[in-house]
Amino acid sequence: MASTPFLFVFSLSILIFPCVFSSDDVNDVKSLVKPVFSTKTPYFWVNDENEEIEEDEETVVDFEGKSCQVIFISTLLRHGARYSGLKWMKKITDVRELLIKTLDPSSEIYPFLEKWANPFQEKEEKQLSELGEDEQYELGKRFGERFKLLFSNDIENVKFVSSSKQRTKASAVEFHEGLIDSVGGDETPVNLIIDDIKLRFHDNCNKYTTTVDKNVSTLVEYKKFKNGPEMANVAKEISKKLGIDKVLTADEINSIFQQCAFEVQLLNTSDWCHLLNEDHFRVIEYLNDLKQYWKKAYGHNITAKMSCPLVRHMFKEVDKAIHMSDEGDDHTVGVFHFGHAETIAPLYAALELFNDSQPLKANNFEFHKDRLFKSSKIMPFSANFAMAVYECDEDPDNNDENDLYVIKFFVNEKQVIIPACDSFVCPYKSVRDYYSDKIDKCHFEDLCSTEKPAAHDEL
Ligand SMILES: *[C@@H]1O[C@H](CO)[C@@H](O)[C@H](O)[C@H]1NC(C)=O
Ligand SMILES: *[C@@H]1O[C@H](CO)[C@@H](O)[C@H](O)[C@H]1NC(C)=O
Ligand SMILES: *[C@@H]1O[C@H](CO)[C@@H](O)[C@H](O)[C@H]1NC(C)=O
Ligand SMILES: *[C@@H]1O[C@H](CO)[C@@H](O)[C@H](O)[C@H]1NC(C)=O
Repeated sequence: MASTPFLFVFSLSILIFPCVFSSDDVNDVKSLVKPVFSTKTPYFWVNDENEEIEEDEETVVDFEGKSCQVIFISTLLRHGARYSGLKWMKKITDVRELLIKTLDPSSEIYPFLEKWANPFQEKEEKQLSELGEDEQYELGKRFGERFKLLFSNDIENVKFVSSSKQRTKASAVEFHEGLIDSVGGDETPVNLIIDDIKLRFHDNCNKYTTTVDKNVSTLVEYKKFKNGPEMANVAKEISKKLGIDKVLTADEINSIFQQCAFEVQLLNTSDWCHLLNEDHFRVIEYLNDLKQYWKKAYGHNITAKMSCPLVRHMFKEVDKAIHMSDEGDDHTVGVFHFGHAETIAPLYAALELFNDSQPLKANNFEFHKDRLFKSSKIMPFSANFAMAVYECDEDPDNNDENDLYVIKFFVNEKQVIIPACDSFVCPYKSVRDYYSDKIDKCHFEDLCSTEKPAAHDEL
């Protein structure tokens, strides 16, 4: 199941597949194995697949001189790499037709366009791809290695929760297999709990639908940037490269970007990619980030708030594990949730992660070159958030129960600063207090109602 390192396969594929463009494009293809494809970025293009992972490396932490051992982990994973959706499949077919009509047949790109047919089938749309299966299997193994002590002999106390979509359910199956292969346990099929209330809350929140999703103002900054100077320049350069007078629209450029992303990750090569250079990718990445930011994250407060069924559940499971652990009872040691970009982005916002000092806007592309909210990095395929809870040694000089349990946050397997206490390891109590509105005052119906003023508007 383990897949070969991408760079290696890439260099091979360059030898095997001749390129239609000049030879210095070889380096362009290599440079594509980079996190620039926004939410269409494969996980192991951002995170090192060959990283050495020490067994049990996350099972113990030190906190104020005490040693603390992990008792519970809760995670949310976005599904693995998937196939393109119908929308983009239709768009790229239109772009090809337009170019065939516009281009001079003697142009060097013409033979490729004439030959090109979409390599992906409509019936596969948005299904988990083989690459996505590999990502999830590897992640299962990696979580198993890092937290082996927690799961060994206790795999029946791990829960798997998924949204109802094929790509999330299939991700859970692969992840489970990787986890079992790493920590041992019966090779029984995963017992999957389907829960769209917690994992597709965006489908159930009327207020979100009307004030954000279907609100034309939501995409104001996105549209401004789409029609702004940066995108115009990309369009001009690409049209020039194609040798056409007609300048492509921003939508057409984005279609080429999307098709390039899917072809290069699933076929290891894509002639569409040769039309774009790194600067172009950065601009289109920002365009797509504007949409993610305004539609799925910090753009509107309701977006973070509506994730409270998930936030509440994640923390209540921690409360339960702590309580049972106190009593010396057997308890759930892990919950793995499988959701979507629409799940993880609102969760980040609810936890106040990756919140830039300035909103992402059409006129601050330069300012945001090193932004925190970079979807290629924080929401690639298989993006994952985890919180791990540790029980500390009792300290004879400090009877404060509140310091007995500490928590760590991880994004894509790396520890991140917890805003509640501005450090990597925080007392559980203080973190829970910080988010208590989202845990103890989650009135989803009121919050999402468009009928009357919400009774708990300040959640
Ligand atoms: C649409 O969004 C804008 C802000 O982006 C907000 O001011 C406005 O109230 C929203 N419209 C509706 C109908 O909710
Ligand atoms: C692309 O590379 C992957 C490994 O990363 C490999 O499994 C796959 O077969 C390759 N595909 C093609 C079409 O060469
Ligand atoms: C949204 O939430 C932020 C942070 O909690 C707050 O500062 C801001 O006033 C809220 N905006 C609106 C329109 O309620
Ligand atoms: C995000 O950061 C901005 C600027 O620092 C701040 O005003 C806003 O309240 C923050 N939003 C949340 C939800 O914490």
